[in-house]
Amino acid sequence: MQQKKNKTQFFCQNCGHQSPKWLGKCPSCESWNQFAEEEVSQTAVAGNGELQFHEETVPISAIMAEEGGRIATGIGEMDRVLGGGLVGGSAVLVGGDPGIGKSTLLLQVFHNLAVRGLKVLYVTGEESARQVKLRGARIGATSDNLLIMVEISLEAIMQQIMAIKPQVVVIDSIQTVYAGTLSSAPGSVGQVRESSARLILLAKKLNIPFFLIGHVTKDGSIAGPKVLEHMVDTVLYFEADSGHAYRIIRSIKNRYGPANEIGVFEMRDNGLAEVGNPSAFFLAERPAGAAGSVVVPSIEGTRPIMIEIQSLVSPTYMGMPRRTAMGVDHNRVSLLIAVMDKICGLSLGNHDIFLNIAGGIKTDEPAIDLGIVASLASSFHSRPVDVNTAVFGEVGLTGEVRGISRMGDRIKEAARMGFTRCVIPKTTYADDALSSGVQIVKVSNLRELFANLF
Ligand code: TYD
Ligand code: MG
Repeated sequence: MQQKKNKTQFFCQNCGHQSPKWLGKCPSCESWNQFAEEEVSQTAVAGNGELQFHEETVPISAIMAEEGGRIATGIGEMDRVLGGGLVGGSAVLVGGDPGIGKSTLLLQVFHNLAVRGLKVLYVTGEESARQVKLRGARIGATSDNLLIMVEISLEAIMQQIMAIKPQVVVIDSIQTVYAGTLSSAPGSVGQVRESSARLILLAKKLNIPFFLIGHVTKDGSIAGPKVLEHMVDTVLYFEADSGHAYRIIRSIKNRYGPANEIGVFEMRDNGLAEVGNPSAFFLAERPAGAAGSVVVPSIEGTRPIMIEIQSLVSPTYMGMPRRTAMGVDHNRVSLLIAVMDKICGLSLGNHDIFLNIAGGIKTDEPAIDLGIVASLASSFHSRPVDVNTAVFGEVGLTGEVRGISRMGDRIKEAARMGFTRCVIPKTTYADDALSSGVQIVKVSNLRELFANLF
């Protein structure tokens, strides 16, 4: 009898999109040159992440599930992004560039849990036990409850987890895990999906939290964490690049807490230290009285954080004007530039424009619109905005300034950080009691904004 040939398909290594033939550009995530041929999973856990529980139906009233029971990690900023601690049976994906501090953070979290008497298992396929020990020595992790396992075989990892019954598990990283049921290489979309699906199923069955670490890749040689985002309960990404000392972790998705929450850390010699007052941190290097610098209280997750917008507007000397925006969507900046050009008559068309959110934070909050406009105008005119003035509001296509949410919280945060004047949308209700000590200037369009700023 002829042996049955294994079925193969082409997978985008960035997002996991499946296609029967090779494609140059992924129709799903629009990345180029990411398709690789892989065997299709034949096991009980389908390649698309479907889990098979084989359990009977039960009435909802018969299910025992009590709220609470969260395991706090003891690291405040980490608990914050997790939505108040770890939930039993949940899978948390921690993604970020190589070298940014994923292993360090998780080892610290596990050290904290171990010290509190929990039996925790750290599975690594990236480093030797000695390397983990050396990192552990830097951050002071010595507890006997912290178990280290160096292994890449999925079957061996699952067997050990069932044998020693840890209370929390981390897999560092999911791209090194190899499931024997598939012949493709570790790190391929098929392997990453298959291993994750089986680990997530195990987490649910044992009712313990699992962390999966995933590297973000740019060259597509291994599958990125995007492939897993829909399978896990919580997705945390490191935001700032590894060139700086601070690290921002954002929850992109969280089934058990608010999404978009951020935690701020600083990388030190002995691991990551929490930054208790992020507003002060982001404003620490603010140049006093410089044109182009404007501060906005932005709601990141559940709390307001003061962020600084910087821009540089200078005449173009040759060819096409250059436009770059870091930390904000460049389409939005282009739109605001067009509004300023058309409505306010600022001739920005023949200027190079560079815009940046200081501190490497990324934001898509509507309230920063007004700050962006103020910053661009300030640099264009070379006239600084008063250092004690915060500017925030949404800007519409006709140059009108629109209302935003959580005005009271934003004003309070501005006042706490020593700001004495806030320029805000006219339509937003701002309770005078909330704004005690802060002068409120209400504007309804960009002309009024400029009249009040310069
Ligand atoms: P690591 O956690 O290994 O990154 P990842 O797992 O995301 O690849 O972090 C490595 C970097 O962090 C490395 O450049 C050294 C630095 N580091 C410190 O600065 N202080 C420390 O205490 C530790 C443990 C690492
Ligand atoms: Mg690592």
